[in-house]
Amino acid sequence: MKFFIDTANLDQIKEANELGILDGVTTNPSLMAKEGIKGQEAIMNHYKTICELVDGDISAEVISTDFDGIVEEGKKLADIHPNIVVKVPMIKDGIKAIKWFSDNGIRTNCTLVFSAGQAILAAKAGATYLSPFIGRIDDSNWDGVDLIAQISHIYSIQGFKTEILAASIRNALHIVKCAEAGADVCTCPLDSILGLLKHPLTDIGLAKFLEDAKKTQ
Ligand code: E4P
Repeated sequence: MKFFIDTANLDQIKEANELGILDGVTTNPSLMAKEGIKGQEAIMNHYKTICELVDGDISAEVISTDFDGIVEEGKKLADIHPNIVVKVPMIKDGIKAIKWFSDNGIRTNCTLVFSAGQAILAAKAGATYLSPFIGRIDDSNWDGVDLIAQISHIYSIQGFKTEILAASIRNALHIVKCAEAGADVCTCPLDSILGLLKHPLTDIGLAKFLEDAKKTQ
């Protein structure tokens, strides 16, 4: 399973990248706004900086909602760097645009996915990645991980090549459960990635080893 970090914060991207396990970055307009990135030029430059920091797929989201606008915006984003993946919302014109991008060699990440039907449509259109929003599904009293397992089953028996990118991850357990359910990628906040390190027995065991090591010096 690939690991992406889900942020536009450069310090967090650097910290995750230094772990040596990072395969890419996802952003969205809310994450860009959180970092105070404002204006088209600043947004494009920020994506360029992220691409220079991380050698992996970088999702950059369009804000147009009509076919022509999505295509025009997506082409500009794709021109920033070969690693850019154009993030397109799961709407009717989004599906048309994903098909156009797929036919024209531009990779896509279909975002705001909440059902297996949407997953089938995005795969048929040729999306490179599909982003089901696990945390938001859980927040709404459904089971986000169940959706990952269902899509994984469908893609596997139907031979769809679209990669399942579990998004809206809230904690380390989500990452483990998504890995178990067949996600190809998890995009996670830094805290959730670091949460994978945690186990009290590791801390207790290390403290004891270090204490005993003093006796051997
Ligand atoms: C990433 O691709 C998604 O936009 C992101 O994971 C959404 O996360 P949220 O539900 O925490 O906003």
